[in-house]
Amino acid sequence: MTTASIIDGKEVAAGLRARIAARVATLPFTPGLRVVRVGDDPASGVYVRNKDKAAKQAGLDSATLQLPETTTEAELLAVVRQLNDDPAVDAILVQLPLPRQIRAETVLETIDPAKDVDGFHAVNAGRLATGQAGLVPCTPKGVMHLLAAAGTAIAGARAVVLGRSNIVGKPMAALLLAADATVTVVHSRTRDLASECRRAEILVAAVGRPEMVKGDWIAEGATVIDVGINRLPDGRLVGDVDFAAASQRAAAITPVPGGVGPMTIACLIENTVDAAVARRG
Ligand code: GUN
Repeated sequence: MTTASIIDGKEVAAGLRARIAARVATLPFTPGLRVVRVGDDPASGVYVRNKDKAAKQAGLDSATLQLPETTTEAELLAVVRQLNDDPAVDAILVQLPLPRQIRAETVLETIDPAKDVDGFHAVNAGRLATGQAGLVPCTPKGVMHLLAAAGTAIAGARAVVLGRSNIVGKPMAALLLAADATVTVVHSRTRDLASECRRAEILVAAVGRPEMVKGDWIAEGATVIDVGINRLPDGRLVGDVDFAAASQRAAAITPVPGGVGPMTIACLIENTVDAAVARRG
């Protein structure tokens, strides 16, 4: 039995943000980020405010455009096109989820791929899948930083990604594969999830189900990255992994909160600066 070391996402994110701020200070321009929020989904509110604060601390020109819940798809597309055409804007992020009258896919495909700091446009997803340089989704990119910080060897390792979303699971698998892991993607229709997970030397859980991954799903000595952030009825915030039990078997594990969450925002800042430098030369 081991007791896992805790991978401190707050600390790794603070280091990354400090490095980015130092880089921003050397640029002859100020990278511009625009976050578009439609309606007032309360979970998004905290996230959007944290993004804005972190972006300003890093020296970016950051603003949130708040649109009403009743915004039509055509109106939102017009806002996105205006941002595409604005030379002061390097980075566009449309906060998800969107109200039901708006098709997210249509909106994401309208964002200029060069300004798509979420990396959700099919052009950026395709570049990632084919090993070309492009903008990479922030959460899986943050996970790669955490694995590096934990000193986890990736090349040749058996990595299991639990979840197959476009936002986390699929790009996560692509990044691990690009880093030479042997990657398995498992999901709600997988037979015997527990034994698939038990084979993982690196386990990334991104399903959004509170404490679904039990302690005995974890191999002794594994690195466990928990992307889930789930609010329980009693108000507690927990991940997709039973942290207490998994800590008894893993070599290293991320906590929730304070693991992957802070990295997502740091990577958004990093993507904004990368997009600005690529666009402005
Ligand atoms: N909603 C929850 N996570 C995300 C994210 O990474 N990007 C966007 N645009 N919306 C989100």
